[in-house]
Amino acid sequence: MTQTPATRPHWTSRLAFVLAASGAAVGLGNIWKFPYMAGEHGGSAFVLIYLICVLFIGMPVMIAEMIIGRRGQRNAVSAMDSLSLEAGQSQKWRYVGWLGAMTSLMMLSFYSVVAGWSLAYLYRTWSGVFSHVNAEQVQTVWRDFIASPLEMTLWHTLFMLLTLWVVARGVQSGLEKATKIMMPLLFVILLILVGYATSTDGFAEAVEFLFKPDFSKITPTVIIAAMGHAFFTLAVGVGAMLIYGSYLDENVKLGSAVFTIASLDVLVALLAGLAIFPLIFSNQLSPEAGPGLMFVTLPIAFSQMGGGLFFGGLFFLLLFFAAWTSSISLAEPVVALLHENFKLTRKKASIVVGFVAWFLGLGSLLSFNVWQNAKLFGRFTIFDIAADFSINILLPIGGFCFVFFAAWAMKTSSTKQELNVSKPYYYIWLLLARIVAPISILMILFNAIIQ
Ligand code: TRP
Repeated sequence: MTQTPATRPHWTSRLAFVLAASGAAVGLGNIWKFPYMAGEHGGSAFVLIYLICVLFIGMPVMIAEMIIGRRGQRNAVSAMDSLSLEAGQSQKWRYVGWLGAMTSLMMLSFYSVVAGWSLAYLYRTWSGVFSHVNAEQVQTVWRDFIASPLEMTLWHTLFMLLTLWVVARGVQSGLEKATKIMMPLLFVILLILVGYATSTDGFAEAVEFLFKPDFSKITPTVIIAAMGHAFFTLAVGVGAMLIYGSYLDENVKLGSAVFTIASLDVLVALLAGLAIFPLIFSNQLSPEAGPGLMFVTLPIAFSQMGGGLFFGGLFFLLLFFAAWTSSISLAEPVVALLHENFKLTRKKASIVVGFVAWFLGLGSLLSFNVWQNAKLFGRFTIFDIAADFSINILLPIGGFCFVFFAAWAMKTSSTKQELNVSKPYYYIWLLLARIVAPISILMILFNAIIQ
């Protein structure tokens, strides 16, 4: 152990913490995944369930992680270790920290590949590739890109280096500084894009698509998809919020901070929907295009609209910023673990984590081209395994363990002191964290496994 908790770095203010945690939450999940999931799962029905899941499952889990982190003042492994000791529980709980670290690494590996796409498309859009092209040509651009392992590796490598650079600089001059610059920029870009979208013909249709409740579209599949997405988008389940909480001062109130973070996360997802769907509807494109929505459908819209290159470029810049502030939160839990428990300097720890995640990412990357026929059970490519297995299985397992630990294993006197809210709010959290969240998570898991 190289640092005593007292000398650990801390956020310089509540705002810095809220921005960093919101940066972790707001990511590809909000801008890339949310719109296509909503598109595939009936629009407003999905949005409604997702909001409910954020409120009743995601937020209690996020609070649990932050309680553990702040009270433990260490990385997930050591925090679980010392808190289980404090509560008179088995120290085996520390393995949950390890599980989180493994999940983080796996997620970072594929996350960087997709984030690399945003850089590649930023470059393509601003260099004019999408001016005056038709739908077929846009699709060819995508197919050619995906078929080129070399180019994908280039962007994946660049993105990983950017991530490491921030993480290696540490909590205050790395994570805090990066998110303080990027989050406000992200909001400005998003508002410009929504402003533009309001002037298109498809805006009214988009609002209706996202917000007009249509309960007939709520099916078990929609519920499962929305629950899984709530986890992913709130960045809970691997100990990222735990480590962010561990850099937090005692006097900051967790409840209201979590509420702000989750609200910002939802707001960005909804605004992203309001920026994207109007373009899709006014160009008579389909909202159900799946993961390619961003890279195949949107450039068609950009090629046809006035100022499309400018707005298109802004869009991919937005995607890149969002991904960057999230990827640092995936690297940080593992870097902190290596740094604090294995005496590696932060720089060395960052290099190790970056290299391993980069290397694993090559597997995902190659599964789009060279290894596209290598499939587990004839169905899942390496990318599918890295992405779906970690999001749908490992995240809920991690989230379950954290919330279960905070709600059942820790003493209520400890959690009450950490959460520091009035009694009714505390008991609402306790009810959600003890019963509602764990049971719902087991349901998601069960369904994900039998599918
Ligand atoms: N929340 C991010 C997104 O929406 C992804 C992410 C970042 C994440 N850190 C995480 C997901 C930690 C789970 C756990 O894109």
